[in-house]
Amino acid sequence: MQHIMTGKVKEVYKVDDDTLEFAYTNNISVFDKIIPSQIPHKGETLCRTAKYWFGLLSKEGINNHYISEPSADRMRVKRVDIIRDYSKINGSTTNYLIPLEVICRYYAAGSLMDRIKSGKVKAEDLGFPAGHEVKEGEKLPQPFIECTTKLEAHDENLTDEEAKKMAGLSDEEFEEIKRTVLKIDSIIDRECSKRGLIHCDGKKEFAFDKNRKLMVIDTFGTLDEDRWWDADEFAKGRIVQLSKEFVRQYYRETGYHKALYDAREKGLPEPDIPALPQEIVDRVSKLYVDMFERITGEKF
Ligand SMILES: Nc1ncnc2c1ncn2[C@@H]1O[C@H](COP(=O)(O)OP(=O)(O)O)[C@@H](O)[C@H]1O
Ligand SMILES: [Mg+2]
Repeated sequence: MQHIMTGKVKEVYKVDDDTLEFAYTNNISVFDKIIPSQIPHKGETLCRTAKYWFGLLSKEGINNHYISEPSADRMRVKRVDIIRDYSKINGSTTNYLIPLEVICRYYAAGSLMDRIKSGKVKAEDLGFPAGHEVKEGEKLPQPFIECTTKLEAHDENLTDEEAKKMAGLSDEEFEEIKRTVLKIDSIIDRECSKRGLIHCDGKKEFAFDKNRKLMVIDTFGTLDEDRWWDADEFAKGRIVQLSKEFVRQYYRETGYHKALYDAREKGLPEPDIPALPQEIVDRVSKLYVDMFERITGEKF
């Protein structure tokens, strides 16, 4: 097997022209920095969670790239081309990665909240009456689907028109992507609400297969791609983040976050991200294992 790339969370190998193997690592990243600490069991929990979702998709007849699981932290998938020159993509190109990250949000949180506060997104863009003051954690009147770039160094928000043009999609194909996202999220919701979880938002990636049929690729429905809250706590008015938010919090408290963003703003070299203390490593590892069990209903 030929090693072809190191991603932020996976090592990617080429098995043959049609097949890739992903090895899920125990790496963890925040603020686009890979932390020099390993989180025990993280790779396995992500791989097994992804496999669980692909199994349900196949049952529901939703085309996806999953082939097999050679081991608990590895997955074989159908390989598609990554075409970086968008001018080479048109309506008849086949077997390629659609160069978009498709995000669907059900609540006001995270970077959407930042964009609301800075006026970049308005209440009416989300389906609220004009002038409504959107609060953190507020349920959106309707799902909010948006695309960012996938292959650029930093994710950039795209309008629907830009997304379609960049990825060579017809209006109907773009609508099919949106319908598929909502269908998948309804499956996620159906499963997770049984185990007291709120699925707040998530990111998915797509490709066209050899017949230009839409295909779900990469990994979705995990702690790394999606945001989850505890439903009981939410009902009591509290948002308990079941994500690596407290890792970000740790770096805010130590002052690293500020140092990094000051450097980025001034265009200075970025300070290296320090390792995590053992106590935080243990907590994060436990969170990944617990959440694997809550998301899938399986035992680790
Ligand atoms: N079926 C596929 N064929 C080709 N590339 C894929 C496929 N599924 C996912 N990928 C790409 O493989 C990479 C997986 O590694 P990851 O660690 O997630 O990388 P990244 O740092 O880009 O998020 C991603 O860039 C993803 O878009
Ligand atoms: Mg990725």
